[in-house]
This record gives sequence, structure tokens and C-alpha cells, in this order.
Amino acid sequence: MRMRRKKWARPELSVCPYFMKDPSKNRGHWAEQFERPEQPFWLELGCGKGTYAARVAADHPEINLLAIDIKSDILAVARRNIQAVYAEAGRPVDNLRLTAYEIGIIHTLLAPEDTVDRICINFCNPWPHTGHRKKRLTHPKQLVLYASFLRDGAEIHFKTDDDDLFRDSLEYFTQWGFPVTYVTWDLHESGRTDSPSTEHEEMFTAQGIKTKFLIARYRGEATDRQIEKMLSQYPKFAPAKVPEGVFKPEIV
Ligand SMILES: C[S@@+](CC[C@H](N)C(=O)[O-])C[C@H]1O[C@@H](n2cnc3c(N)ncnc32)[C@H](O)[C@@H]1O
Repeated sequence: MRMRRKKWARPELSVCPYFMKDPSKNRGHWAEQFERPEQPFWLELGCGKGTYAARVAADHPEINLLAIDIKSDILAVARRNIQAVYAEAGRPVDNLRLTAYEIGIIHTLLAPEDTVDRICINFCNPWPHTGHRKKRLTHPKQLVLYASFLRDGAEIHFKTDDDDLFRDSLEYFTQWGFPVTYVTWDLHESGRTDSPSTEHEEMFTAQGIKTKFLIARYRGEATDRQIEKMLSQYPKFAPAKVPEGVFKPEIV
């Protein structure tokens, strides 16, 4: 669903202290962008209206979270939701940062030194047509990029409404060296309560569609060996070279 353009989006984001306006400048220095740099570093990819990011970060002051989306109109809504959740919690927004970026080139935003502990991907576009599948945020092409900045033992938490995407993603992760350590085809029946609902999750749940959820683990050298094997079989999955300054996030 296309969101109507919001006149207030850019003005509000431009004065937001936790919205990162020139994010690729922080590559290799993300920890320093947070009040407590020593804390574990989590990402949410395709954060949409930000209710999940806000809930997770407000409930876990002991982690730092960077929430990323490509659209400034959505990020502006996320900013308002974050303000509301932190105000209710009576806390400053000290462990959450927002930014606009293209996840397809996320290796130009995060460096190996940024050592990410967790990636959360919630209800990403399923891209069902064969020719579009490489755009999926769980596609092997993306796993290569994530491996470049994940810490040994890091986790990828993935939720979706889409059965085919979930089935394919289970295969992507297990085949390419990210063993799946937890899987449920019905998160809400599973008894797990540590994954706050997202806007899309609420919408699909209201339609009777179950939320599928998995956790996959990055295993350092063992995963990297599998990735090397993948790249020798599928050289097209190697990260595209993006000359510095070519990608301009929508917001700037
Ligand atoms: C279907 S929505 C899901 C939003 C939210 N995670 C939820 O569960 O409600 C997918 C979001 O990912 C963002 N997105 C899709 N592809 C992206 C990309 N390549 N780079 C950055 N953001 C992307 C979209 O703008 C959108 O907000």
C-alpha cells in the first residue's frame, strides 16, 4: 500500500536528534553514535512505522538498535511512534537510532568493525516472482552482505505472513551456513512473547493469517566457508561495488 506524501515528514526528521541524516559516514563507527557504545548492537531492516523497533529498544535499554527503512514518510511516522513509546516509558531515546537507507547495499552502511549482534527482519516484501526473488531481504545475495558485519554467534530473527517466503528462507539459511536454531509456523500459538507485534503482523493476524518466525545463527568461519562455496557456485551473488557517494538516501 502506497503511503500518502506527508509534508511534515522531512521537517520533523531533520530536527530529530536520533535520525541519522548522513548514515554512511558512520560506517565503522556505529557504536559511537549511541550513549552506551559498549552495548550489543541490533538492526531492524525495513522497520516501517517503527512500533517493533520502539517496543524492543524501550524494553531493552541494555542494547543499541538501528532501525532502517528506505522511505522518509514512513520513517517520520516511526519517529512519532518512538516518541510516544519512550514518553510512556519515561525514558529518553538513548539506545535507538533511525535512518533511511537501501538495504540492498547495506554493506556500504555497516563495516566489519560494527559487529552486529542481531538482525530483525519483519514482514519484508515476499517478491514471489522468480525474477524478483533476489530482492528478498533473506535471499542468499543479502546473506553475503550481512555476514560481512555480523559477530560470531549473532542471530537473525525473521517473521513473515508468507508461507512460500518462509519455506524458501528456511532453505536459504540452512543451505548457506546459518543454522536455524528456532522455528515456528505459528508464533502466537508458540508461547513465545519476546517478539513485539509489528503493524503488518497485526493486520495479517486480523485476517486470520499466522505469523511464521525463525532464528538463524551466524557461525563465523564456518558460515563464511559456506558463503565462499555459494559465491563460487553463484558469482552473481557477490556484493555489487558501489562507489562512494553514488547512493543518496531519499531523505537528503
Ligand atoms: C511490508 S513493510 C513491513 C514493515 C514492518 N516491518 C512491519 O512488519 O509492519 C516493508 C518495509 O520495508 C521497507 N523496505 C522494503 N525494501 C527495502 C529496501 N530495499 N531498503 C530499505 N527499506 C526497504 C519498506 O519501505 C517498508 O516500510
